[in-house]
Amino acid sequence: MFRFDKQRLRKDQVLGSGNNAAVYAYQKHAHDDTWAVKQVLADNPEIFQKYIGEIVMGFSCDHPSILPITGYYIEDQEPNRWIIYMKMPRMQGTLQDVIRSYRTNNQYLSEKQIVQYFYTLVDGLEYLHRKRIAHRDIKTTNILFDKKGDVRLADIGIGKYVAEGEGLNFKTKTFVAKTTIYAAPELSESDSVMRKRFVFRTDCWSLGMVMLELCTLKPPLRRPKESMANYLDKELLEVEDRYSETLKNILSCLLKVNPAERKSMMEVKKLIEKEYSKFIDCAELDKSTCNLQKVKWQLTKHWQKVFDIQVNSGLLIQTNQNYNLSDKNLNQFLSDLQEESKLNPSEGLKNFDLNLQNCFQVTMEGINKITETIQTSFQNLKSLSLNLSALQVGDESLSRIGGNFTSSLQQLETLNLNFGWCKEITDRGIEGLCDSFESNLSNLENLSLSFDSCSKITEKGVVHLATQVSKMTKLNYLSLNYRNCTKITNRAISEMIHLIFSNLADLNFILLNFSGCYEITDEAIAHFAPPNEIVEEANMTNIAAAIQKHQPKLKFASFLFIGCDQIQREAYQELHARIRPICPFYIPFE
Ligand SMILES: Nc1ncnc2c1ncn2[C@@H]1O[C@H](COP(=O)(O)OP(=O)(O)OP(=O)(O)O)[C@@H](O)[C@H]1O
Ligand SMILES: [Mg+2]
Repeated sequence: MFRFDKQRLRKDQVLGSGNNAAVYAYQKHAHDDTWAVKQVLADNPEIFQKYIGEIVMGFSCDHPSILPITGYYIEDQEPNRWIIYMKMPRMQGTLQDVIRSYRTNNQYLSEKQIVQYFYTLVDGLEYLHRKRIAHRDIKTTNILFDKKGDVRLADIGIGKYVAEGEGLNFKTKTFVAKTTIYAAPELSESDSVMRKRFVFRTDCWSLGMVMLELCTLKPPLRRPKESMANYLDKELLEVEDRYSETLKNILSCLLKVNPAERKSMMEVKKLIEKEYSKFIDCAELDKSTCNLQKVKWQLTKHWQKVFDIQVNSGLLIQTNQNYNLSDKNLNQFLSDLQEESKLNPSEGLKNFDLNLQNCFQVTMEGINKITETIQTSFQNLKSLSLNLSALQVGDESLSRIGGNFTSSLQQLETLNLNFGWCKEITDRGIEGLCDSFESNLSNLENLSLSFDSCSKITEKGVVHLATQVSKMTKLNYLSLNYRNCTKITNRAISEMIHLIFSNLADLNFILLNFSGCYEITDEAIAHFAPPNEIVEEANMTNIAAAIQKHQPKLKFASFLFIGCDQIQREAYQELHARIRPICPFYIPFE
């Protein structure tokens, strides 16, 4: 959370206002034009949840085409009424302003300018889609430009994570924005099957509409679906007349009434790169990311068949579904990465995100090389994510990650480690991993660990980890996933809750997953009362009141016990029902 100073919020300098929000300048001194703060009123938990979602997603996105949310502050007014302040870089105006000013001056944008906007937005959306986030409110007022004229996508708030292979969860319908003139035709239809299947393609349509408007300078017209294709044909002809056939063709790939025929952002990105390489050369990119972008191009040339690599202020490396990746290949790739980093200023690199999920041939040797590479070449990281799920990772590798390795990452604020399905991990590995957390990672604010289906872990490991974690008093985000760790008992939960709730007073986000831990009973839920609190009767009302008293900053919570059949459904529902009003951000994983 950032230190919100009401004095700095300049209510006399309104930068804009929308249906639910007002945006003000946020200044340290008279000519400070660095920041803006968006203020929204949430007068029911659902709206509150919507905005918190916006913040959480804003935080989790790091891409030059996405406007980041860099801080937030929540003012509790009265029960079920909050004012939320979101801090973000101050921008100069919206794409709607650009369109208006060209229209007023009777001028059109150049093709080069259009393609540069287009590519920036496609790049940002492709990044979101790859992270399984749909934007769902793309329109000209949600695209902002800065002093240099570069555009960024704002308001990813009504977007929502979409689990792999799933469509939208229409239980959350109330969070979906009113359909705008940019909304895809299928969104106004009652048949939800199409909408579910092509959830990301609705963004593609909206972006197509925005780009069409940029070319014609006419806002799109709301049309019945039947006459849409006709209308578009005419408009696209105008694009071809004024610009080129190439531009028209790319736009028409997005503006297909049938979402199944619409191209994805990845496809359109490739098309633009192929057709317009002269317009989108590195020259226009932000200086600070330029060098890093070069790394991207050189590395991808060699490695694009094996990895998907994106470089912004961080490196995002995913395996391209390449489950045959061997230690040898991984070692070679990491050596190349080390070499590249010597040529490039890696002090600028803040995030490192490596996803090797399901590369089940990678062994301890590969993991050693990962830690070595990070240790030698990327010591200034603020955020590190390693997804090692289903790899041949055992206790030794965990000790290695926890030991010397973390001592070289003193600046780390966010650590995200996924050891799901690494079935050899035992309590000993957990000890090795977390014993030096406190001394090495004293700046850590966000910690997320997943031991999904590591079924050798017992009470001892859980308690040990909780003990170490509870010493990291700066933590404000904690997520621990013990799904399907079937040896976990009520006592493990009781100890863990005791340790966490009594020591981590700054926590504002907690997510604990014990789904599938079938030894757990109703009694575990009773342990959710914070320690030293005499909860006369361990009913949920008392527990909620106790948590509220002891964890004043806790805003988001989710406790999952799905498939723990010994817990009565009522008890579980009661836990959620009681805790939800005090921690209204509930992640609907169910
Ligand atoms: N970071 C920013 N810097 C400068 N101006 C901004 C910034 N963010 C938003 N604005 C301005 O504030 C206006 C209101 O933004 P807001 O997101 O509340 O509404 P909107 O996107 O215009 O419409 P809606 O309410 O339908 O979402 C924007 O149109 C823009 O002009
Ligand atoms: Mg907006």
